Amino acid sequence: MKLQTDLLAAEEASRIYGRRGGRRILHSILPTGAYDWLRGYRLRFNASDLGRRWHSFEAGLLALTARSGVLSGLHYTLFSREFDREHRAVLAARARHVADVYAGRGNLYMLRRNVHRIEKGLIMKPARPLFALAMIEETVRAFGDCLARAQENQSADIVSLQWADQILQEYFGRVDNHPIVARARTAYEAVVAREAARLADEQNRTPFKRGTSAGLPTIEAMEALALHRRSVRWFDDRPVPRAVIDRAVDVAGFSPTACNRQPFRFEVFDTPEAVARVGAIPKGTPGWLHQIPCFLVIIGKFEAFRFERDRHIPYIDGCLSAMSLIYALEVQGVSSCCVNFPDYADTERRMAETLGLPPWERAVMCLAIGYPDAEERVPYSQKLPLAALRRYNHFADPD
Ligand SMILES: Cc1cc2nc3c(=O)[nH]c(=O)nc-3n(C[C@H](O)[C@H](O)[C@H](O)COP(=O)(O)O)c2cc1C
Repeated sequence: MKLQTDLLAAEEASRIYGRRGGRRILHSILPTGAYDWLRGYRLRFNASDLGRRWHSFEAGLLALTARSGVLSGLHYTLFSREFDREHRAVLAARARHVADVYAGRGNLYMLRRNVHRIEKGLIMKPARPLFALAMIEETVRAFGDCLARAQENQSADIVSLQWADQILQEYFGRVDNHPIVARARTAYEAVVAREAARLADEQNRTPFKRGTSAGLPTIEAMEALALHRRSVRWFDDRPVPRAVIDRAVDVAGFSPTACNRQPFRFEVFDTPEAVARVGAIPKGTPGWLHQIPCFLVIIGKFEAFRFERDRHIPYIDGCLSAMSLIYALEVQGVSSCCVNFPDYADTERRMAETLGLPPWERAVMCLAIGYPDAEERVPYSQKLPLAALRRYNHFADPD
């Protein structure tokens, strides 16, 4: 199973170690000596007095630009296009979301969000006789649309729909009468009458009382796990069984996620060829890619959101889930190392082309996974002390 260095095609290797943009062009057209001289000149300039003055002027200019939304917008229109990819992904996602909701395709994430808001209403204290009026009709419509689509695709979304059904059932059984509720109830009952067989479900998916915490890992066990888990970059030859990965993904799936949407998925690659192909894209693995047994890419699903204000949620939720995944792997003896997915035009394009991602999905982060090579060391990576990580009850100083 150990990957051979030669699995890294020359093109892949040059991309990992290669230069980008203007530097790549200069490197390809200039003789090596001239390129190295220019590079050395840049480094000397940065360390010189003139360089320091130039960079403090640059810092002042950036700080000035940061003081105004208009100037920042102009900066990112005229001098840098670095936010283009995020802008385009967010716009494509909004278009997809609106089309899903209003063209009758149904947006499962919108349904999951609304159902979650209703289940929160069901546990509210004191109990409210009437709630969710602003969204109950769109929720029932989404329920019907998603159910119709799940039927077409034989989709795995049926458990979300069974959950939605049980929550709606409890809601309609509990809220007071109101013309909006009456209309929504009629629509809901029509859907359920059509789909009763598929919605039949043994499992209770309505709010429940948790058991006690007896039998859970102790804080000492948690501390030991946190100390033991380190970013491991050297792995042994053993392949990681899919059962181990899947069990960890199941744990990761229980992580907190904004309005219970879960706007992400994990793409897993576990053959030497697949790992070499995908693992080379993010550029964070130079020198150790050739022996990674399994590579995972977290994909953020931006079509889960209607508005820009939620654009960070796929990153947040994807990585909250990744942390659970990492611990769930570690307790099964499997180690990992996060691999950054920097926002570069070429990495984004290559990942989208290689994995066939639509414009509303973006890679968020990657994970190298494998059984640790016990002979190899890991970096110490000193952590910040407690005092640097938290403070209590701190507010802005009064003027
Ligand atoms: C978002 C993120 C991106 C990372 N990217 C890389 C990477 O590209 N290459 C790498 O070798 N390590 C990468 N790491 C691992 C960090 O270097 C590592 O977590 C950090 O130094 C702390 O060490 P520890 O994980 O052993 O505690 C990344 C970690 C995170 C959280």
